[in-house]
Amino acid sequence: MAMRKTTFTVIAILIYCTCAFANNNPANATEGKMNGFINDLLGRMTLEEKIGQLNLLMPSGSVPTGSVVNYDVESSIRRGNVGAVFGVIGVEKVKRVQELAVNESRLKIPLMFGSDIIHGYKTTFPIPLALASSWNLEMIERSARVAATEATADGLCWNFSPMVDISRDPRWGRVAEGAGEDPYLGSRIASVMVRGYQGDRLEANNTMMACVKHFALYGTSEGGRDYNTTDMSRIMMYEYFLPPYKAAIDAGAGSIMCSFNEIDAIPATANKWLLTDLLRNQWGFKGFVVSDATAVQELVVHGIGDLQSVSAKALKAGVNMDMVSEAFVGTLKKSVEEGKVSVEEIDRACRGILEAKYKLGLFEDPYRYIDAARADKEVLSESKKSDARYFATRSMVLLKNDKQTLPLRKAGTIALVGPLANNKADMLGNWAVNSNPNLAVSILEGIRNAVPQDVHILYSKGANISDDPIFNKNVNYLVGKWIEVDPIPPETLLSQAREAAEKADVVVAVVGEAAEMSGESASRSDISLPESQRKLLQELAKTGKPLVVVLMSGRPLAIPKEADLATSLIMAWFPGQEAGNAVADVLFGDYNPSGKLTMSFPRAVGQIPIYYNHKNTGRPQVSGVTMKFLSNYLDVSNDPLFPFGYGLSYTTFSYSDVTLSDSSLKPGQTITATVNVTNIGKYDGTETVQLYIRDIVGSVTRPVKELKGFQQIALKSGETRNVTFTISPDDLRFYNAELQYVTEPGDFKLFIGTNSSDVKEASFRLLP
Ligand code: NOJ
Repeated sequence: MAMRKTTFTVIAILIYCTCAFANNNPANATEGKMNGFINDLLGRMTLEEKIGQLNLLMPSGSVPTGSVVNYDVESSIRRGNVGAVFGVIGVEKVKRVQELAVNESRLKIPLMFGSDIIHGYKTTFPIPLALASSWNLEMIERSARVAATEATADGLCWNFSPMVDISRDPRWGRVAEGAGEDPYLGSRIASVMVRGYQGDRLEANNTMMACVKHFALYGTSEGGRDYNTTDMSRIMMYEYFLPPYKAAIDAGAGSIMCSFNEIDAIPATANKWLLTDLLRNQWGFKGFVVSDATAVQELVVHGIGDLQSVSAKALKAGVNMDMVSEAFVGTLKKSVEEGKVSVEEIDRACRGILEAKYKLGLFEDPYRYIDAARADKEVLSESKKSDARYFATRSMVLLKNDKQTLPLRKAGTIALVGPLANNKADMLGNWAVNSNPNLAVSILEGIRNAVPQDVHILYSKGANISDDPIFNKNVNYLVGKWIEVDPIPPETLLSQAREAAEKADVVVAVVGEAAEMSGESASRSDISLPESQRKLLQELAKTGKPLVVVLMSGRPLAIPKEADLATSLIMAWFPGQEAGNAVADVLFGDYNPSGKLTMSFPRAVGQIPIYYNHKNTGRPQVSGVTMKFLSNYLDVSNDPLFPFGYGLSYTTFSYSDVTLSDSSLKPGQTITATVNVTNIGKYDGTETVQLYIRDIVGSVTRPVKELKGFQQIALKSGETRNVTFTISPDDLRFYNAELQYVTEPGDFKLFIGTNSSDVKEASFRLLP
């Protein structure tokens, strides 16, 4: 009896303390205030006004980013039929549109203003795949912070970024927008980008709401064909593809965009398991879900119902906002009247949007992000320009440097050739919708800026980006003249380039893709260099002059022959606005390259999907040699041309063997693994030391290697540094067949090295 009384007392005290804490906790007080405000507002809204908040439109005259349905946005805003807009750029325009909502709609609910600020706003940074190649989390966070500062100064408060789709398929053009193939690195990048955009205070006028996309598995569309079907096991999803979305949610992302593809035969936009069971119930997501452009309406085309029923399905699955389909505004009222959708379901979706506006501080001040003085100061400021150059130099990856051809001397005669050598627009890459190509620095300009007047630069175009008329027509379709064919015949272009090369001490060839050859709706079944450019490199190589190839593209390319022909090879991606200056910094050694690949480069398209963290199989290839009845190809090795994590420097880093603090690890304990890294070359440089682990035996098969950590160190020539990683049992967790996230005792291999292939190894055991 006495025992029961004590138990009751303890429980009572606990309940009292919890309630008292809840009441005094400032976060709860803020949430309570927000709920009170939104309850009151919802109580005053008509059904049409609530559905109006679920409508995201792109007004005419906007920066186009895809298909559009409604052009009469103004009167829709006045009627309270729009919750947010995107593509409206500049303080003046944003102000005018906000005034429509705040002065002319019945309840004066402010709009949110969104945009695709994917790699910088008006100041254009390198594409995300390039930024990821820096492996510099602090820098990537800063790139997001700077982009947010510039975009919010111009009136925007909601960003359709970061894109965190893991992909193992470079045929898919949208790999340009993501961080590559690895879930660990992808998660770390997702999280710092959200922090960069949202900062500590979402209501501050220089931070913006992130929108993580595209939930989920968009990077695994079959055949690398954009918008195509996806299909994979749950264990694969949980282990390799879902972690970056989860990391972004854990970092506090305020919104998420669902993807075009289907998952388990139900399109993501109507997938209740994905958008409610997993996202909200398992992961605890508290923000709102927006569909991708016209994705609600596309559910009809997927074949799961007519417009009214698919709209109801999307809403019930967990979509709050319909991007440009106007399917919600067109059908949901009828569905409520027919009892197919409840008012509670509409309220739930609407509450998500109103909460976002509240958190952004828009109810307090709808013009919070509209400040012409800030726009004048921040947009295209000098400091952002130098950030763009800094980010670009750190994003480039040196893939080859025979005979230490690089860095070049700022002397003599340089032949600068290639269709991307004197080009501005392509430097910006895809998703540069807010950028001005005239502000881009071409490679020719950058090199001229870098060298004294007496250095001779012999520029020659050498080739068109592509001479294939059908391919060029497809690339240019709807988006302008990205590939222009020169009136000078291809043979003449080639011979002019050869002539320039023959007169020079060194040849720098700038080749690759036009910006529109990667990105959305830019899948390629053949990811080699176009034939015109392959011929150019062959012609240049015949001269016997050192051939420095600067490669630009939004994806890994299959370039085994060209990599052979090149004396030196730099992967510059699409470097952004400061392209020319940044390429010159790297070519002449003003910056010693430090980037590392975050996607494997295949030797041949047939190797795709190609990724470092693959399974062993029951018949693994031995030492890269093809043998009958093993898992390999007859015509190409299994190895990539350049592996994940690969990237050279003008200096050389040597690694000692790995020392472990202990050969076994118990639950609740940690061990350390240490290597000494020495800069044995003559230049100072930065190295990214990578840690991989392999679980030798599991209840389910485990990959041959998984990235578990990395550290970036700057070493002076001759300097040595101890690099230590701490490993805890949490680093050894994985999803078992029941989708439980577990550790299993047993033997592990640990690898530390300069890339995923070139490593030193050690072994340890996880004890029960
Ligand atoms: C479609 C794209 O898939 C998405 O990434 C983008 O944010 C929207 N269009 C809006 O431009």
